[in-house]
Amino acid sequence: MNIAVNPELNENSHQTIYLKDYTPPSFEVLSIDLTIQVHDDHTLVHSKLVMQRLTSGDLTLCGRDLELLNISLNGNVLTPDDYNIDPEQLIIKNAPDQAEFSISVKIHPESNTQLEGLYQAGNLFVTQNEPEGFRKITFFPDRPDVLTVFTTRIEADKKYPTLLANGNLVEKGDLPDNRHFAIWHDPTKKPSYLFAAVIGDLAVLKDSFITMEGRKVALEIYALAQDLPKCHVAMQALKDSMKWDEDVYGRPYDLDNYMIVAVSQFNMGAMENKGLNIFNTVCVLADPEITTDPAMFYVKSTIAHEYFHNWTGNRITCRDWFQLCLKEGFTVFRDQSFSETLQSAAVQRIDDVSSLKSVQFAEDAGPLSHPPRPDHFVEINNFYTATVYDKGAEIARMMANLLGPEKFRQGTDEYFRRHDGQAVTVEDLVDSLSDGSGVDLHHFLPWYSQPGTPCVKGTGHYDASAKTYTLKLSQSTAKRPNYPEPQALPIPVGVALFDKNTGEQLQLQGNALQQNGVKDGLFVLDQAEQTIVFEQIHTEPVVSLLRNFSAPVLLDFAYSDEDLAFLLANETNGFNQWQAAQMLLERILLQGHDPAVYLDAIAQALPQVADTDALLASRLLDIPSESYLASRIDQNFNPAEVHEKREVLLKALADKLKTYWAQAYQALPIVAFEDNSVEMGKRAYRNVVLGFAVRANVEGALDWASQQYDNAVCMTERLGALRQLVWNNAPDAQARLEDFYKRFKHEDLALDQWFAVQAGNPKGNVQLARQLMQHQDFDWSTPNRIRSVTGHFAGNPILVWTQEGMQFYTEIAKRLDQQNPVLGSRILQLLSRWYTLAEPMRSEARTILQALKGQVSSSSVCETLNNLLKA
Ligand code: ARG
Ligand code: ZN
Repeated sequence: MNIAVNPELNENSHQTIYLKDYTPPSFEVLSIDLTIQVHDDHTLVHSKLVMQRLTSGDLTLCGRDLELLNISLNGNVLTPDDYNIDPEQLIIKNAPDQAEFSISVKIHPESNTQLEGLYQAGNLFVTQNEPEGFRKITFFPDRPDVLTVFTTRIEADKKYPTLLANGNLVEKGDLPDNRHFAIWHDPTKKPSYLFAAVIGDLAVLKDSFITMEGRKVALEIYALAQDLPKCHVAMQALKDSMKWDEDVYGRPYDLDNYMIVAVSQFNMGAMENKGLNIFNTVCVLADPEITTDPAMFYVKSTIAHEYFHNWTGNRITCRDWFQLCLKEGFTVFRDQSFSETLQSAAVQRIDDVSSLKSVQFAEDAGPLSHPPRPDHFVEINNFYTATVYDKGAEIARMMANLLGPEKFRQGTDEYFRRHDGQAVTVEDLVDSLSDGSGVDLHHFLPWYSQPGTPCVKGTGHYDASAKTYTLKLSQSTAKRPNYPEPQALPIPVGVALFDKNTGEQLQLQGNALQQNGVKDGLFVLDQAEQTIVFEQIHTEPVVSLLRNFSAPVLLDFAYSDEDLAFLLANETNGFNQWQAAQMLLERILLQGHDPAVYLDAIAQALPQVADTDALLASRLLDIPSESYLASRIDQNFNPAEVHEKREVLLKALADKLKTYWAQAYQALPIVAFEDNSVEMGKRAYRNVVLGFAVRANVEGALDWASQQYDNAVCMTERLGALRQLVWNNAPDAQARLEDFYKRFKHEDLALDQWFAVQAGNPKGNVQLARQLMQHQDFDWSTPNRIRSVTGHFAGNPILVWTQEGMQFYTEIAKRLDQQNPVLGSRILQLLSRWYTLAEPMRSEARTILQALKGQVSSSSVCETLNNLLKA
């Protein structure tokens, strides 16, 4: 963006950048030749940049924390008189139309703790350049709409035998002083955020894939030698993803090789650098002994996500960072659809919706609320959010559902045909989908630019004499400060009617439905209020709405509790049953309804579901989290009260099925590990049942937990048991914690779980969390370890929303402000609902946040803090 000319600074002198100020680049880059010379105490980066003028304007190169050694333009050494330089950029005055630069800079990856640009992590040097890390490697127009061809030469000591960059290896060889080099050439034009380099000593797992076009692709996963056996799950997932993208979207892979590198110090999950993905170890290593089933599932879906970016993100990239959800939303939708093929589609939808509601809805309800495509930001790193990713995915899903598979495919074919090799906008996607399918989808565009979660309200009325069922629906979205008055959005509402007497779904074809706009079970609510009349309805129906969570909205329909119990029993798919249960539970927990109807319904439904689909049964017992419940309470939030209500309900549910838990647990003995959804379901259900058995004080239940721990054949079993022991202060807890530590002290990802289970203890306290952070294995340079404490402690609002709890988080944000601001900002975001607290907590929270103000200075942390204080 036009960083040079927009003078608007906030009080910490950080600039706000606006979408409306976008201007195209004034120069293109025809090629870049990079030489990266790694030394123990510094790294030299030489670049040869060939640039050519596109429009009038300055020639601007971004650069941050770089020591400029020399710069020449078209063969002439430049002196400081020839350019303007500040901490963010270098501007060449009166640049010629053809400009060939030679630039040398010195950088310090060995002391780069921010994990952006090139940084050293243990014995490994890796890059993270999205969104703006490349400017910490060399001077470059570091913006996603400048694409170029990269040739990369890496030189390092031979103690680092692994030298990788994007593309094909063209040459390697020896250098004096026990050093060597490798030259890589990437034939595809790409923006700088997709550049990657890796220097280290890694082992490699190799495989291959033959594309639908018959080309052979070499697949390589690089990891520490001891971790190589844990790379097979990821390799299989990679091959499955490659096949899936061919089958479902017709998209083959384009290069000759695809490399994945595992690194333990990484701010996010993984990064889709062209042909050279870099992954957080937690998203690539998987082994039943150290990895729980959900974590293993996460590995597979992250592998898929990054692979799918090759088309949605890399070959077609974003014009500017405001368009981030163009690649992220669409790619999350694609990885969710892929994951659906690995377990039951219903459970996949449950898990995705459950996280959408507890994280994205919460974000959208508070001071950090923003549209999927924001129109301004201070620090783009702060916008890798649930709203951009997950609400972005829901928008893609709504359009895909409305079109149906065939037309959606025509639309995506058109998108790839038009824009391959380009940097584009959300409008370009919607144009392509519309033109390719022949269905105009432009009315969906406001979903990208309007913040907040719409609420759909409604009532239904059956007229027995007229044989009609009348559904009245309305929508509203809360207005947010600094945004225009919200407008009505197109909200696809999945709808079905069930016979109240028999429980059968009514067939609705041909009875004036088309006329009312209901097609394939979807009604698009696009006005503030609408009425649909279903005709020829001969018996009283129960309506089921928002089936399969057809839109990212809150639903407030005038159901009776009995209607919801009916849907829990009679809905035809697991997601809709789960959704009915959740609606009932919210009424109990937020509106004080009597739990009896829910308890009877779940007691009735559960045993049968458990026999046929244990995975679904484990999810049907989900009780909305305290964090989600908190997101629904806008004032006078009393964390202890919410906690207590939830505990009472859990206890009632546990007691209601007390004898069942005992039988169900005994019927699920530990068996040999198998990685499939049936066995995964049994393991998930066994852990849930164990938890309820302990809660119900079933005789011997804590001993079962100890035995399950001792006899476990996989981490899902061991950790499930340990959690019960630790969270219930069982006499055996300490010994098992010690055992766990001894067993896994050399396995970082397992040790993270050891920290997490203690930090997440609902009966724990801030003191305990602080002690964990003093432990000899606690490590401030590894985000996974930090999150294992801060993230899991945050699962307990009663502990977070105390003065000590809030101080704990602001101290961490302060510590990370310089060391790793991206992470510091994320951790501070955990406090975003402070202003909903009941007094005096609310005033105390404000005081604590205000005290942080003078103590932080990074753009990431300051932007988040300023937003929090605006609440
Ligand atoms: N594009 C990556 C993904 O979602 C995420 C990288 C985000 N990195 C960051 N520093 N914010 O696949
Ligand atoms: Zn992504």
